Amino acid sequence: MQYFVTTNSPATHLTDCIVVAVFEQGELSPGAGIIDLQSNGYIKKIIERGDISGKAGQTLLLQDVANITSPRVLLVGCGKKEKTTENDFNKAITAVAQLLNESGCTDASSCLTEVVINTRTTSWKVRQSMITTETALYKYTQTKSDAKPQLNPLARLGFFAQDNEAAELEQAAQTGQAIANGMNLARELGNLPGNICTPTYIADQAVELGKRFDSVTTTVLEEADMAELKMGSFLSVSRGSREPAKLITMNYKGAGDERPVVLVGKGLTFDAGGISLKPSQGMDEMKYDMCGSASVLGTIAAIAELNLPINVVGVVPSSENLPDGDANKPGDIVTSMAGKTIEILNTDAEGRLLLCDALTYSERFNPEIVIDIATLTGAIIVALGNQATGLMANNQQLADDLLQAGNDSFDRTWQLPLWEDYQQQLDSNFADIANVGGKEAGSVTAACFLARFTEKFTWAHLDIAGTAWNSGKAKGATGRPVPLLVQYLLNRISDKN
Ligand code: BES
Ligand code: MN
Ligand code: ZN
Repeated sequence: MQYFVTTNSPATHLTDCIVVAVFEQGELSPGAGIIDLQSNGYIKKIIERGDISGKAGQTLLLQDVANITSPRVLLVGCGKKEKTTENDFNKAITAVAQLLNESGCTDASSCLTEVVINTRTTSWKVRQSMITTETALYKYTQTKSDAKPQLNPLARLGFFAQDNEAAELEQAAQTGQAIANGMNLARELGNLPGNICTPTYIADQAVELGKRFDSVTTTVLEEADMAELKMGSFLSVSRGSREPAKLITMNYKGAGDERPVVLVGKGLTFDAGGISLKPSQGMDEMKYDMCGSASVLGTIAAIAELNLPINVVGVVPSSENLPDGDANKPGDIVTSMAGKTIEILNTDAEGRLLLCDALTYSERFNPEIVIDIATLTGAIIVALGNQATGLMANNQQLADDLLQAGNDSFDRTWQLPLWEDYQQQLDSNFADIANVGGKEAGSVTAACFLARFTEKFTWAHLDIAGTAWNSGKAKGATGRPVPLLVQYLLNRISDKN
């Protein structure tokens, strides 16, 4: 979507539609106040009639308001004045985007960034407006045979600004657009079915990123290469499937010789559980088991679009987990790249079997920080629902930085303990470590397993099983945690300066 910042007045600015906020109890925002004043009290009159109450997300489209240059004014409820929450704001933006997209408006200008939301800056509100608008407009069509493009879609969004803030807001809109583009890439990869979005497909998309951006270099390792690296754990999972596994590396260079942040994304393009087969109910959703990898591609795309001065390596181990004749069997013991032996007590705990080898592989990039992103456990959904991404780390500063980035971007995480006390649950009678730790604290023991392979670097684990996609009627990938990851990288850059 195109965006622009204007220092015009909403009363005299010409666009298809001016968007202004109203609040509960009939209160007006400054923008609504200007329109009301110019139109001799028209807005107040309408509110008094009770056609709009100000509840977050309520809308009322007005045509030909007297003395207003633009043909339409859209009122949108933003909750309680001075007490609008981030969720109210997102609801309002979503309602506005959907309404405008289905009306004849292709070009709209928004006063909503003047709405007071806690301590959020105007830049934050501009950025969030871009992200939430793109989220509202995203529509999956790739495998629909009758998909018709939207007539007159919303194509341009303007923001009103003071003279001295125009440049900053322009920058915020650009950042928001890049994050939204990254989220859309992640969404699209997530939503594609397992028979299209295979490990080979993800590898091809990563190669595409390398072609699109000079700053990104992509390499793809095949199973034979991984065998040479002795990735016995990763390869044991891919043996259960006929799709060849891939180990994809995307190297983004935006700074000199600085040590990189390595992002490792779980890329199971379908997880049937293997011989420890999952129940059929809802199994289709296991096409989303590659959302960690999708978020890595989305993040690399966003930071490359923004040309961020930082080095980031994206590592994606990608495979299917299926019950073929050569698949892992419960009790099988494999040897990881790190040399540790693993007893596979449950073949459905496959993500950690890929990730442990990918994490060991990450050592070669001499990373300053390693973050893995994985739809790793159903247990994290039990613990945190669909609101927060689970966070565990071997370094509290890194955990704090990710919690902060989550709050800053409103793509939030919540920390769980990674105490050594839990490690004993992974004891095995026959190998160095078991791949499951019993029914208690399933998300923590999954992270404990990974922790055995990350002792050489500063590392955090993000369990996105609850946040990467929505179930039910609105089934679809969310694009999370691209905003969190980009924010973390942006904060690193500003902390350094
Ligand atoms: N991909 C799943 C985790 C998952 C399950 C994500 C449901 C979203 C919804 C992962 O590979 C898995 O199967 N984990 C097991 C681990 C268990 C066997 C220790 C799980 O969570 O049941
Ligand atoms: Mn599984
Ligand atoms: Zn899985």
